[in-house]
Amino acid sequence: MNIPILETERLILRALTIEDADAVFKWVSDERVTKYMPYNTYTSIEDVTKWLSTVVKNENTYNFGFVLKDNNILIGSGDIGYNTEEEAWDFGYNIRFDHWNRGYGTEAAKAMIRFAYESLNARCFSANHVVDNTASGRVMEKCGLKFDHYGECSKFDGTQTFKAKFYKGYINASE
Ligand SMILES: CC(C)(COP(=O)(O)OP(=O)(O)OC[C@H]1O[C@@H](n2cnc3c(N)ncnc32)[C@H](O)[C@@H]1OP(=O)(O)O)[C@@H](O)C(=O)NCCC(=O)NCCS
Repeated sequence: MNIPILETERLILRALTIEDADAVFKWVSDERVTKYMPYNTYTSIEDVTKWLSTVVKNENTYNFGFVLKDNNILIGSGDIGYNTEEEAWDFGYNIRFDHWNRGYGTEAAKAMIRFAYESLNARCFSANHVVDNTASGRVMEKCGLKFDHYGECSKFDGTQTFKAKFYKGYINASE
């Protein structure tokens, strides 16, 4: 997958690489971040390296690392890809806990949406979050999505299932 470099006011979004394993481990090993994510909390850098090696080969989803322009630190990651069930461009994100609530999640999500809109002809977008994960719902709303329906989401290994809010909508990212 050819992952472009995107720029926002405070962030560079770029392809993740295997060399990012140490930085990624900082948030994927943190239960405050992983609680409502589909993956389980990571306990070893080797497992993060394995995950990154699948990401760099992924041909279906655009995965981005979110890097602070100021100091070049990788503070999070996200992805966007076409979801055939939803018939929409689905996106997700996670940010290092010590950088929450400073607008980075919204800034990065908007950049992924704008990229998909401008370069992939994406018009309809979707995302979902565990009901209790209110901050993620705020990010979706701030990106212009509207609540669509309730459903469920589960951990990849099926160990936990949560009630979730599904959002969907047409976004005009040229505005
Ligand atoms: C979801 C996440 C990416 C948001 O990132 P962020 O950089 O903190 O997001 P932003 O700062 O852009 O926006 C957060 C919004 O949620 C609000 N918020 C934060 N905690 C909240 C809470 N407990 N209840 C209600 N709103 C909350 C903030 O006030 C802000 O809204 P505002 O701009 O209207 O004030 C981050 O919390 C995260 O990584 N969570 C763990 C991983 C995750 O759950 N990812 C999403 C899976 S669906």
